[in-house]
Amino acid sequence: MHEVSWAGERLILCNDRELGVRAAIAIDDTTLGPALGGVRFAAYESERRAVEEAVRLAAGMTLKNAAAGLPFGGAKSVILKPGNAVDRAALIRWFAANVALLDGAYIPGVDVGTSVADLAEIANLARDVACHEEDPSPWTALGVLEGIRAALGFLGYDSLSGRRIVVQGAGHVGAELARQLRQEGAAVQLADIDAGRAAAVAASIGAEAIDPAQVLGRECDVFAPCAMARVLDADSVRTLRCKVVAGAANDTLATPEIAQELAARGILYVPDFLVNAGGVIQIHGLREGWGDEQLRLAVLQIGARVGAVLDTARRESSLPVEAAEALANEAIAARRALAARPA
Ligand code: NAI
Repeated sequence: MHEVSWAGERLILCNDRELGVRAAIAIDDTTLGPALGGVRFAAYESERRAVEEAVRLAAGMTLKNAAAGLPFGGAKSVILKPGNAVDRAALIRWFAANVALLDGAYIPGVDVGTSVADLAEIANLARDVACHEEDPSPWTALGVLEGIRAALGFLGYDSLSGRRIVVQGAGHVGAELARQLRQEGAAVQLADIDAGRAAAVAASIGAEAIDPAQVLGRECDVFAPCAMARVLDADSVRTLRCKVVAGAANDTLATPEIAQELAARGILYVPDFLVNAGGVIQIHGLREGWGDEQLRLAVLQIGARVGAVLDTARRESSLPVEAAEALANEAIAARRALAARPA
């Protein structure tokens, strides 16, 4: 394997020769608590790509949890989908046994390709899992909505009403975000590679369904990526005609340099890990026994955090993503300083 850039605490590579399956568990940081992060089950073009994805997403989880003020570190795991058919139950049990060896340092959750049922199975062996039936997507959507509101407020718009917002992806988060935006009077354009889904959602909320190939070049106030990772790369970033990028998709920028490119083009980028934390806040709330109102208030705080990060970036002439990373890293540094103090 070629070199993988790795600055995290633990990277565990698992291999079951009999089942013919492999997995990588990346624990990026546990300073703030056990490392929370989803279990992804997906096919990768190479093992290296799978490990790189686990590593990068784990680091993103550290930033997301820390910036949201949650008592969790960051992690991510990937189970590489084998080319051949595999006994799913045996695969999940094997993975759970590997998680169990970490003795609670890693709290696995649902991610692309895994289900609540898989997590319930993992819970039979592992000490702690984030496993509940409630869909986090409405909370993620609410956080994104508040982030968009804050970003537009930063640009001088005091209302979402009449603002033109392009939502990429009409799935769990995108459809709910579009609905909430319409409730606020925004003019919403919605695109999905599943054209039928986009059309059905758009019709039910009074939005416009548009061609997914045209989302980036649409002139609008806000582009909200709620579909897949790394939608903005060196080429696609040049086609944008929006004022703000703020959405739920993890890992929106293909490389960190794209944040600079967005700033150079006068586009305000609200860091994905700052604005899409509604789901992890929900996990924390469920573990703490919060009611809906307490959870709602906590998710609404995302808007205040986005506003504060944008103000800091302007004051310090830095990028919003740098200010957001500083917010997360300060929380981690403060905890380290506390832990280092003599009892
Ligand atoms: P989902 O799978 O329900 O929806 C994604 C939608 O995007 C699907 O309808 C799919 O057809 C569509 N899509 C895929 N490629 C597309 C393209 N090129 N153009 C337009 N549409 C495309 O996923 P979900 O749960 O709504 O999540 C959306 C994004 O937000 C993902 O990147 C996810 O990792 C991220 N996210 C989701 C959270 C949640 O609470 N569900 C929490 C934090 C992040």
